[in-house]
Amino acid sequence: MNLWGGRFTGETDRHFAEFNASFRFDRRLIFADLQACKVHAAAIGRAGILDAQAVESIISGLDKIEDLASQPGFFERPEYAATEDVHSFIESTLVKLIGPAGYRLHTGRSRNDQVAVATRLFLRGEIDRIDEVMRDTQLALIELAEANSTDPIPGYTHLQKAQPVLFAHFLLAYFQMLERDRERLADARKRVNIMPLGSGALAGTNFPVDRHWMAAQLGFDDITGNSIDAVSDRDYIIEFASVAALTTMHLSRLAEDLIIYSTQEFGFIKLGDAISTGSSLMLQKKNPDSLELIRGKSARIFGHLTALLTLSKGLPLAYNKDLQEDKEALFDTIDTLSDSLRVTATVLRNIELNRERARAAAITDYTNATDLADYLVKKGLEFRMAHEVIGRIVVYAIQQGKELQELSLDECRNFSELFDGDLFQAISLENSLAGKCQIGGTSPDQVSSQLKLARGKLVGARK
Ligand code: ARG
Repeated sequence: MNLWGGRFTGETDRHFAEFNASFRFDRRLIFADLQACKVHAAAIGRAGILDAQAVESIISGLDKIEDLASQPGFFERPEYAATEDVHSFIESTLVKLIGPAGYRLHTGRSRNDQVAVATRLFLRGEIDRIDEVMRDTQLALIELAEANSTDPIPGYTHLQKAQPVLFAHFLLAYFQMLERDRERLADARKRVNIMPLGSGALAGTNFPVDRHWMAAQLGFDDITGNSIDAVSDRDYIIEFASVAALTTMHLSRLAEDLIIYSTQEFGFIKLGDAISTGSSLMLQKKNPDSLELIRGKSARIFGHLTALLTLSKGLPLAYNKDLQEDKEALFDTIDTLSDSLRVTATVLRNIELNRERARAAAITDYTNATDLADYLVKKGLEFRMAHEVIGRIVVYAIQQGKELQELSLDECRNFSELFDGDLFQAISLENSLAGKCQIGGTSPDQVSSQLKLARGKLVGARK
């Protein structure tokens, strides 16, 4: 039976009914919806609209639905094929279980505030779960950094070798990005965790339900202050999708770096078998499919974010059925984000740094040229002049087919009298790294304290 019964005499067109139905996907909200239904039942009981016995019978019926819905394959039953949505499913099943008294549950409530409260409750739980997965991804970064805490790699700008950095420093850059993403997620959670129930269809409810009491029962921090907004607002979903988009954009950058570093040309990292695939034809190959998919999946989430914004932008107040389209975008955003985070953590736990190769790459191609310029600055030369001198030395070294550390002191002195025997120490890899010892720099001491701070941030709950 349709929920809108009396007003209609004709049948719904079959194709439209399928088009209209959302049960196939929104049944995912069932536990959140049931939770809110129980509190609503208790609230109308407390308001004196239902007697204690009716409340009890409704709540035990809802408990039974919860049990049923936990059974594997339950939703696959053919009789549910024609169900419109999760909300009508709960009502019709309740009536089947406890009789017409089940219809009383909907007193003082609309599906519009029902879907809003269920989606918020559901998303709150998912946010908490995702925060855990993000935290584990951060942990995987820290573990890899700790296992290679003093190993250098070349740092790049424009994908041209720039200066040596510690591999751990590179990894901690991604830790920081995820840290900000977790902060954004926690902030978004604050706006998710507001209760719309009690808004009715759009104008509020005629029944004296205690909204603050319901909010407390459901663990909401506050209640909405405008019923029209409460039933039509989905910006909390868009905000979550924005955080998801940023997070997967970060994961995508990490994936890109690791793909590059795993090529034969770079060869800084080795991918474990657990996260690579072979080629059906070229048997020498080991492909970084895991990383490529992490990079590729971000596109889906950007698509969902755009879809949600587009979906909302032209809607008149208050509820419109267009809003049903938010569900699949939200669910797929949640799943894609969680999977991408999880696979990223797995990749990080299955890669190995090729220390020798990364170190050799870090000290070649004049990555110490800036250190040589700084050497002259410390001897009293202005930086611009030093830059000029070192530029000429680099050109000379390239012509000689030598690295800067392979030049003799005499060769260097041809370019400036300021060079002394201590110059080779100054441009050594160890010195280059150790010199970057201001907070946030790549010196081993700094990185080691940043690693400790990072570990510290993972301890203790956030909310
Ligand atoms: N399935 C609907 C949705 O997701 C539930 C709300 C329906 N409300 C209505 N007035 N048709 O938006």
